[in-house]
Amino acid sequence: MSREDPKSAVCFPFKKEDVQVFTKNIKEVIKHPKVGAVICVGYEKNDCFKEIEATIPSIEHENSKKVHLMLQTRLGTKRRAGKGDGMNTALNFFISRTPYQTIHFYDADILTFSQDWITCAEKKLKDGFDVVRFFFPRVSTDAMITWNITKCGLASCWPHTILANVEQPLGGELAIKREVALRLANDSLVLNYSDWAVDTAYTLGFCRYKVPLYESYIEEGKLHKLYGKLTDLYTMLIECFSIIKENQSLKIDTAGMVYKKDAVANVPKAIREKKAFDLEGTIPLLRENWTKEEVELLDLFPTNIREGMLACSENSSRPDVRFISPEAWYEAYKILLANFLEAKKPWQELLFHLWLARVLNHTIHYAAKGYDYAMQSLYDMISYFEKEGGP
Ligand code: DGY
Repeated sequence: MSREDPKSAVCFPFKKEDVQVFTKNIKEVIKHPKVGAVICVGYEKNDCFKEIEATIPSIEHENSKKVHLMLQTRLGTKRRAGKGDGMNTALNFFISRTPYQTIHFYDADILTFSQDWITCAEKKLKDGFDVVRFFFPRVSTDAMITWNITKCGLASCWPHTILANVEQPLGGELAIKREVALRLANDSLVLNYSDWAVDTAYTLGFCRYKVPLYESYIEEGKLHKLYGKLTDLYTMLIECFSIIKENQSLKIDTAGMVYKKDAVANVPKAIREKKAFDLEGTIPLLRENWTKEEVELLDLFPTNIREGMLACSENSSRPDVRFISPEAWYEAYKILLANFLEAKKPWQELLFHLWLARVLNHTIHYAAKGYDYAMQSLYDMISYFEKEGGP
């Protein structure tokens, strides 16, 4: 390949997207001089899949580059078929059917996506990093699985490693060099996580392999559809917690691993002021669906948490969530790590209710005091988990 030849493929894993946004993003990436092909991996053959299929011939014709469209293959055997199978299908296709050196992944629904993201990642790859991950300014009440589940878990299970500092361990926007893609595609710890846990599985993989990792900050942010009630995130919550719980004893030592990230320069006003989810619709969820079995599980928790949660389950008006401070969340998280059983519905419900209480505590008592205060409280919580964590 000469130096001018394209070096990268770009993958969009997708399910049911806004076809206009998705098509715009395909057209954007395919024009990038470093991009040789686009790989679209669909979850199922739905209307979105068919509409994308219909647009491909003209995009290919206009750009003289291939857009590969495929359904995801069932690669994991232990967990639900989800985004993980989609990303891993793309890895396999990239390795076995394309000559490129890098694969980029982007969510198909990003409203603010531009070619600059690719340029930015390619520059860092050229500088010697094997993986480039993007991170973004996020609304102070958004990323509530990232903060309260994934970052808390990484910091307490692997304190004093890079895992405790990764900004966006759940991010689906990243670029990976071929050698790393090959390792991921042959790693059972990655292939098994065929659901929402895949992003965490990749993050753990990068640190287990100790590959040079860069996190790039995209200031305009990743605008996407915002959430309704937090039940929208139920499955993602369970799956993202489960991977931490299942791997908590894994030995990971990142000493000597090259890891750098951009400093956060600025957070746009629109992001500082936005709300991430439907607060009024979410509050009642805290007292819904409690069963006797779930209430009994509360006996495992310290008194303040048990009594606080019981009061929430009984309260018919506004629940009082002051008890579930970052420090109390650490105590609850430890009990969850030791006892949570993913296959048991009462445990799923309890994880959901505890997490809801924590998210509402943050939203009502921290986010209401302004963006910087809210974000600092989240960083402080992660430091606390890291300080208290470990064996
Ligand atoms: C997260 O926590 O990052 C999820 O995407 C919800 O915002």
